[in-house]
Amino acid sequence: MDTLVIEGGIPLEGKIRVHGSKNAALPILAATILAEGEHEIEDVPQLLDIQVMLQILASLGAPSKHEGNKVTINTGQLTTARVPESLMGQMRSSIFLIGPLLARCGEAIVFRPGGCAIGSRRIDLHIDGLRRLGVEIEESEGVIFCKANQLVGAKVVLDYPSVGATENIMMAATRAKGTTRIVNAAREPEIIDLQNYLNKMGARVSGAGSNEISIEGVERLYASQHHVIPDRIVAGTLLTAAAITGGDVALCGVIPSHLEAITEVFSRSGTQINYANDMMRVIGTKRPKAIDKITTSPHPGFPTDMQPQLMSYLSLANGTSILSETVFDGRFRHVDELHRMGAQIYVDYHTAIIRGVPKLTGARVEATDLRAGAALILAGIAAEGRTIIEKVSHIDRGYEKIEQMFVKLGANIQRNKIA
Ligand code: UD1
Repeated sequence: MDTLVIEGGIPLEGKIRVHGSKNAALPILAATILAEGEHEIEDVPQLLDIQVMLQILASLGAPSKHEGNKVTINTGQLTTARVPESLMGQMRSSIFLIGPLLARCGEAIVFRPGGCAIGSRRIDLHIDGLRRLGVEIEESEGVIFCKANQLVGAKVVLDYPSVGATENIMMAATRAKGTTRIVNAAREPEIIDLQNYLNKMGARVSGAGSNEISIEGVERLYASQHHVIPDRIVAGTLLTAAAITGGDVALCGVIPSHLEAITEVFSRSGTQINYANDMMRVIGTKRPKAIDKITTSPHPGFPTDMQPQLMSYLSLANGTSILSETVFDGRFRHVDELHRMGAQIYVDYHTAIIRGVPKLTGARVEATDLRAGAALILAGIAAEGRTIIEKVSHIDRGYEKIEQMFVKLGANIQRNKIA
């Protein structure tokens, strides 16, 4: 696996465009199965997870081209409803295929999904919700067989506003008989983007962005075109890069309302953030102020996908911060790596107590998962001396050419390719 070598201590400066959202693109690509024909999806970043999704779609009989950031995909003739185990194991988002396959083929044969090691990631809400729509589901030796001759609209009450379960049920319900209501639905911006694409294909979905989504089933959907929304987590990571180095960076192509929970926390700690339309200027302070208590929670709360990056930043704050993780139960693996760089963090179950230090020092560290890896890059660009990050492929799942983004802003970072 590749490594990244960073010489820290340079304040980042300049202007950069934020690429399209991985978490919006993945369900939208899965949703293309719902309608036969040629779909054009733009602003799809070149990422490992996207490649896996396109390979899965190809294995189902839907070949695609990914040129620049545009994906053209032909879903005219699916040949199977069985997702290959080897691909399913590589990415949790492969679970999104269940809803669209059921709607299109009346069956889906899948395996337990893989993904980042950030805690137990159950799929019970997906399964229970689909059962409410009349799907028969049986699991045997890790294979999940799903069947529905006719999906039927129903009221689905989610015990927790799971992003993936909301999306899966939304997709399945587009072609069900009757109306489906998802109560306690997740409210993330990526769900609104999925609703927008489903409606472009002729679906009748409303309410995304609120905690209740209504889907009136239709007979047919039609292939269409779409631009994916900008990635709010990439924007948040770049924002942190400017803030943690005391830099001055303009982020272009962002949607400010998607970033409110993030900008609120950074502003409180002393980072200056100004907007002009879709451009956000971030000016770091000499040393951030610690923050009493931040808790991750579903949107519109502070996103769990920004928790590791925020932790790197608060490691350098003046004072002690408290950061609680409520979404995933195993998402503090970056703490040990930050310790190697001189951070002082104490973990008590779901809460990290971060005693800010005046400086971090470069070290050899390992990206244990996608966002943990991003957090280590942030620590590395702020640290004194050289940081070497191993297992960079985790980072490549969610950031397009990450080292180039940082180099563009003046950081000294290079990738060592390991064959
Ligand atoms: C999505 C995002 C991921 C983000 C997460 C939370 C994508 C591709 N990924 O993941 O980047 O970190 O939202 O914002 O969009 N849960 C269950 N049963 C289920 C499903 C989920 O108990 O059936 C639990 C999970 O274990 C987790 C919590 O619910 O603790 C949140 O998971 P969920 O919202 O489903 O996240 P994902 O859709 O997997």
